[in-house]
Amino acid sequence: MILVTGVSGALGSLVHRRLAEDGAPVLAGSRTPPDGGRTVDFDDPAALAEAFAGVDVLLLVSAGYADDDVVIARHGAAIEAAVRAGVRHVVYTSIAGSGERMTLAVPHRWTERALAAAPLGWTVLRNGLYAEFAGTLAGLGAELAAAEGVFRLPWGPGTLPVVSREDLADAAARVAREVQGAIDAGRPVPHAGRTYELEGEAVVGGADLAGVLAEVLGRPVRYEPSPLRETWAVWEALGADPYQRGHAVSLHSNIAAGFAVAAASDLPGLLPGRPRAARALIASTVRAAVAAGG
Ligand SMILES: NC(=O)c1ccc[n+]([C@@H]2O[C@H](COP(=O)([O-])OP(=O)(O)OC[C@H]3O[C@@H](n4cnc5c(N)ncnc54)[C@H](OP(=O)(O)O)[C@@H]3O)[C@@H](O)[C@H]2O)c1
Repeated sequence: MILVTGVSGALGSLVHRRLAEDGAPVLAGSRTPPDGGRTVDFDDPAALAEAFAGVDVLLLVSAGYADDDVVIARHGAAIEAAVRAGVRHVVYTSIAGSGERMTLAVPHRWTERALAAAPLGWTVLRNGLYAEFAGTLAGLGAELAAAEGVFRLPWGPGTLPVVSREDLADAAARVAREVQGAIDAGRPVPHAGRTYELEGEAVVGGADLAGVLAEVLGRPVRYEPSPLRETWAVWEALGADPYQRGHAVSLHSNIAAGFAVAAASDLPGLLPGRPRAARALIASTVRAAVAAGG
């Protein structure tokens, strides 16, 4: 039996749906589970071993929206409970090498190390940054772009490799399904001890995002690199928590410095076809943001 955590979230819901559609034996794990699902809250460690009972493959979707110590405690509790419950294999959604120097990577790399030391099988899926996220950043600049034809972002000449969540969900579902299939058949488990870099093919910079805004808004939009310092105020105005502001500054700083670069990607080998087109996805995210903004 496979258990997918975080199924109310964007990635977990896609992975769970893929597995269910494929007829794989799968349970939905969530803090607010659907009928027939399991209550999975990493902040309630005492209840986790019971939540994981009878599970062979735990697809652990990172629960990253908190300060690092909280995320580390969550993931540590999930791994400990998986061991106690007799889970055979954990598939963990981490962050790709292009994010290596970003502060976001700290709890992910901690979790990878904890998994490697745990007495169970594991596969690490190092997910690239979502194309949808790049679309969100462009969407935040839509109002200014519409009024003044300018898109500001502190990326300098830097770029970011991006990937669609749907592709990452396809890859995750395939790995979980193949691991479960091997366990059921008593065969050697594929993907065991493997760390896959799931980077997107598409690379976007500030000028590309300005180009998407221009297309969506139907007017010329020029990219104007802004100082990194503005990020603190921009994210504070959005109501972001202090830890989110820190991650945003670190992410922008890495991109501007040219560190957000992808090495070879394992993604094409795990997908049934070509990766989804990131630019179209960014454009649809921007379109939705513009529509929501009135
Ligand atoms: N690669 C990227 O670009 C990128 C961008 C943003 C985030 N991420 C990371 O990737 C993860 C999945 O992304 P996403 O787009 O699916 O994010 P999302 O839509 O925000 O979903 C995150 C899910 O994490 C689960 N979660 C939160 N706190 C939890 C807890 N205490 N115990 C158990 N589960 C908890 C929740 O699921 P339930 O509500 O069902 O419990 C939540 O819906 C994020 O959590 C984050 O760590 C990656």
